[in-house]
Amino acid sequence: MSASANTPAIRFDSVSKAFGSKKILSEVSFEIARGEIVFVLGKSGMGKSVTLKHIIGVMKPDAGRVFVEGKDLSTLDSRGLSGVRRRCGMVFQQPALLDSLTVYENVAFGLKSPEFRTARAASGQKELTENEIQTRVVEVLELVKLDSSILNLNPPQISYGMQKRVSLARTLAPGPSHLLFDEPTTGLDPITTQAVNKLIRELSDKLKVTSVVVSHDMACALQIADRVLVLDQARILVWGTIPEIRQSKEPLIQDFLSEALEFESQSGQEVHR
Ligand SMILES: Nc1ncnc2c1ncn2[C@@H]1O[C@H](COP(=O)(O)OP(=O)(O)OP(=O)(O)O)[C@@H](O)[C@H]1O
Ligand SMILES: [Mg+2]
Repeated sequence: MSASANTPAIRFDSVSKAFGSKKILSEVSFEIARGEIVFVLGKSGMGKSVTLKHIIGVMKPDAGRVFVEGKDLSTLDSRGLSGVRRRCGMVFQQPALLDSLTVYENVAFGLKSPEFRTARAASGQKELTENEIQTRVVEVLELVKLDSSILNLNPPQISYGMQKRVSLARTLAPGPSHLLFDEPTTGLDPITTQAVNKLIRELSDKLKVTSVVVSHDMACALQIADRVLVLDQARILVWGTIPEIRQSKEPLIQDFLSEALEFESQSGQEVHR
């Protein structure tokens, strides 16, 4: 895409969305810069997942516009939209791997898909050989701290935490520019949660990807986010850096912060930023 380096990775311009009479987003505007880690927080049902779905264009706003790399999604045809989806790697809460395939086949899946091959052809790149696919699979497994000894295992033969990593590796394989996580640590124990957080930070540093992380977890946000966006009652309640969030007098933010500090004192984890 031809957007300049200063073009925001993601921009919402006065986006509104309702289901029936229930307003989920009401004239919501924000910009996320390339390479930023943004946490989207809010109580259950406040439109966090709906926000992610607007970024990948599977939901359309009732009013307002969503831009990815400067492209107004409402102006794109299905080919344009699938291009955007390819640049936005979505990491779901559940690993959603295919149990009948090996780890290798699961991670290679996206590299063999017709969409990926067509996109490569369209940008004048040659089709990946099986050797190149193999190299890429090993490379992305290394990025998520897994070694190639598990390549021939099936998902049920590895732990849940490893399955989540494999699922992340599968998302990374085609080389997305922006990673969208929907509750990556919900349901994980504190140690695995820490490991996943660290991984998100490391991927951001190494690959310079933009990361949008939907979460309930202020403690995680305080540790790794550059900025935090809190949705409440269809609006942005707070949107700012960690120091700005810490200074917020909003009761909901105070609740989130005191929960995070409680987590810190119980787990001995440092909530340092
Ligand atoms: N396709 C849909 N049709 C009708 N209502 C929907 C649809 N998708 C979401 N909603 C409603 O929109 C609201 C926001 O949903 P969303 O999934 O974004 O919440 P959330 O903030 O992600 O919550 P949680 O933390 O529980 O995942 C909810 O009330 C949900 O029921
Ligand atoms: Mg959700």
